[in-house]
Amino acid sequence: YGRNLIIFDEVESTQKIAHDEAQQEVPNGTLVIADSQTGGRGRLARTWYSARGKGIWMSLIARPHLSIEQAPQLTLVTAVAIIHTLKEVTGLEAQIKWPNDILLNGKKITGILTELQADPDRIQAVIIGIGMNVNQQETDFEDEITSIATSLRIESGKKWERAEIIGELMNQLEKYVHMYETHGFSPIKMLWESYSVTIGKKLTARMVNETLRGEAIGISENGLLQLKLRDGSIRSI
Ligand code: BTN
Repeated sequence: YGRNLIIFDEVESTQKIAHDEAQQEVPNGTLVIADSQTGGRGRLARTWYSARGKGIWMSLIARPHLSIEQAPQLTLVTAVAIIHTLKEVTGLEAQIKWPNDILLNGKKITGILTELQADPDRIQAVIIGIGMNVNQQETDFEDEITSIATSLRIESGKKWERAEIIGELMNQLEKYVHMYETHGFSPIKMLWESYSVTIGKKLTARMVNETLRGEAIGISENGLLQLKLRDGSIRSI
């Protein structure tokens, strides 16, 4: 991964560019990176703030040997790769909040946005978007996220070389996607659960048709969160 790089100074969204590139014949592991994004997007149509030079804004084009049903778990595979990258490069021990937030001291340091391009029967590409806050100071964050966001600099008191983090992340992602392809989800699931702040928590899940209260007890083989309800029954959400 990351041997074919497409680098921009400023784009609307690396995710958008990666989607276009993936429809051409670009190789597995092609990485789109930008120094700033004017229209970075997060899950649920949220905005992703992508200040110039302060963080890692990138989208990886992966063409994994997986079925369409196995694709959503790549978000969890990516989370594990990010946790190991942060530990390796900075020594910081981050945690995962289901499904896709990476936290340091309870605040969000990284978000993951996994999107699929597929024919009815096979994956064409998975676009793995990663936004990591690296060198922001407290005053760099917009008011609406200052209480929930953090950066590597804030947590460690040091500035970090983005290229070093990107390089390690490519190695870790390649390793864990390969592990998933060859050994299935079980080894990833074990690692993911050990870094999770969600497992063991009592929580309320508001969904379109219903609201469920219960205790998060684990994730299933297909990456869903398992909730134990008051009546003892288990629901995957
Ligand atoms: C989230 O936490 O909601 C996911 C955030 C994903 C942000 C990254 S930054 C690079 C890529 N380009 C985008 O527009 N979004 C992703």
